[in-house]
Amino acid sequence: MQEVLVHSPATVANVAAGFDIMGFALANPYDEILVRKTPEKGVRIVNETGTFPNMPLEPLKNTAGIALLTYLAKVKPDCGFELVFKKKIKPGSGIGSSAASAVAGVFGANELLGNPLKREELLPFVMEGETVASGVAHADNVGPALLGGFILVRSYTPLDVVKIDTPENLAAAVIHPQIEVRTEDARAILRKEVLLKNAIQQWGNTAGLIAGLMKGDMGLIGRSLDDVIIEPIRSILIPGFKEVKAAALKAGALGCSISGSGPSIFSLNENVEIAEKVAAEMKATFEAIGIPANAYVSKINPEGVKIA
Ligand code: HSE
Repeated sequence: MQEVLVHSPATVANVAAGFDIMGFALANPYDEILVRKTPEKGVRIVNETGTFPNMPLEPLKNTAGIALLTYLAKVKPDCGFELVFKKKIKPGSGIGSSAASAVAGVFGANELLGNPLKREELLPFVMEGETVASGVAHADNVGPALLGGFILVRSYTPLDVVKIDTPENLAAAVIHPQIEVRTEDARAILRKEVLLKNAIQQWGNTAGLIAGLMKGDMGLIGRSLDDVIIEPIRSILIPGFKEVKAAALKAGALGCSISGSGPSIFSLNENVEIAEKVAAEMKATFEAIGIPANAYVSKINPEGVKIA
């Protein structure tokens, strides 16, 4: 096999109270990348569709380039690959655009080399890509994009990730307003210390969400989707955030918060029908204040990155 077409999903990171430690995969949108072996060593990046023209083509400045170079340095230094991007997830959207590309490149190359590493062993390499996008090798987008499902990062040192069972019908509504928030900027505005009383509430919500997901307790999931540390600061970067969240809850969402570093906003819902209704209300609320927005409705994608 000389080339392989890879689909890599968008992801919702943080999931309210789980900053940098929780995320889940969506079924749509997803990035499409053709990974091709080349006779030359190294990585070459081609923006085939020309979408998102600001995407860096220099491998060391591109999340997928960095991730794949890190993988090759360790696994197969003599090999070279071309990554032909047919990118669909807009950079700076808050739904793991950089993560999807990094995961696609490494997963495709590993496949073409006959899978020298298992899927879960690719995680440290794809995390390296995130250092370009945000300055920090966080795993809450790349984890679910690579492994599928809902991922808890129990620890970074040592790396310890756990896949959490989720209720079959649980559905996300994700609204992407057409403004850009750079992850690096959204991290720079965060405070470095938290109040103990806020930390206690956040720990309760983090554990509550995991318990709610595993027990299939929709009420507990809803009550736990509450971020008292990050959301109050980052929401100022998203015009209309308060109104969109209120609209989601009024329309029947279990809970609602910022997706990753924003500007996308996600809600979790008891089923797809409610998620569709909630998505329509969230989108209409953004549009009422003059911000066009795309809406996605998806169950939690159990599969993650795959060969198309
Ligand atoms: N956990 C990261 C952050 C996700 O919130 O900065 C970035 O998509």
